[in-house]
Amino acid sequence: MDHTLERPVASSTALHLLLSRQSSGALVEPAPSGADLDLILDAGLRAPDHGRLRPWRFVIIRDDAKPAWAERVAEAIELRDPENAPAMIEKYRAWVQRTPLIVALGAEIQANHKIPEIEQLLSAGAAAMNMLNAAHFLGYGGMWVTGANAYDPRVASALGFEAPSRLVGFLALGTPRPGPSLARPSRDVHVREWRG
Ligand SMILES: Cc1cc2nc3c(=O)[nH]c(=O)nc-3n(C[C@H](O)[C@H](O)[C@H](O)COP(=O)(O)O)c2cc1C
Repeated sequence: MDHTLERPVASSTALHLLLSRQSSGALVEPAPSGADLDLILDAGLRAPDHGRLRPWRFVIIRDDAKPAWAERVAEAIELRDPENAPAMIEKYRAWVQRTPLIVALGAEIQANHKIPEIEQLLSAGAAAMNMLNAAHFLGYGGMWVTGANAYDPRVASALGFEAPSRLVGFLALGTPRPGPSLARPSRDVHVREWRG
């Protein structure tokens, strides 16, 4: 039994859906679009945010823009790591081609603000999580990916994120291929009670 569902939770509830979410790297069409995509983006905009800085910035990459995006990243890879570039570029092109929809996640950081940068980044992460959950609730699947490209200033700049703002990763979104439900870690390892 999946331990996260050991207590009865009505299958129609949001909590049931929350407890059954898992990432999917094997995505196929259709991607969320129209009203579904708007709901996913709106869920991102429901993230907690200290000081109402609203650091969340989402850049949608889809359809005809995908090959051009792959080429922009290819240029960055070539400059970053010329020796390994051919294989890395091929791998990235293939990923972009097979990913139905990519949402680049940015955090517009206000430096030297009384709200520390870590809190602005955490808020961007919370937005990403809300979006993954919303996608799952609507029957889609997703995966948050970073890797060297997400930390390359040239890639961030191509999306309009200049320091101190940051690219915090990419959400790959689409329809998940059916697969097994992955076991989740035990609460015992992750939770303890402080008793002084
Ligand atoms: C900030 C962040 C960055 C990630 N980057 C990658 C990545 O570049 N490549 C990858 O395979 N998984 C990456 N992951 C992990 C997957 O998104 C996913 O969480 C993992 O496959 C476990 O699946 P689960 O969400 O069902 O537990 C990242 C996760 C986070 C939170």
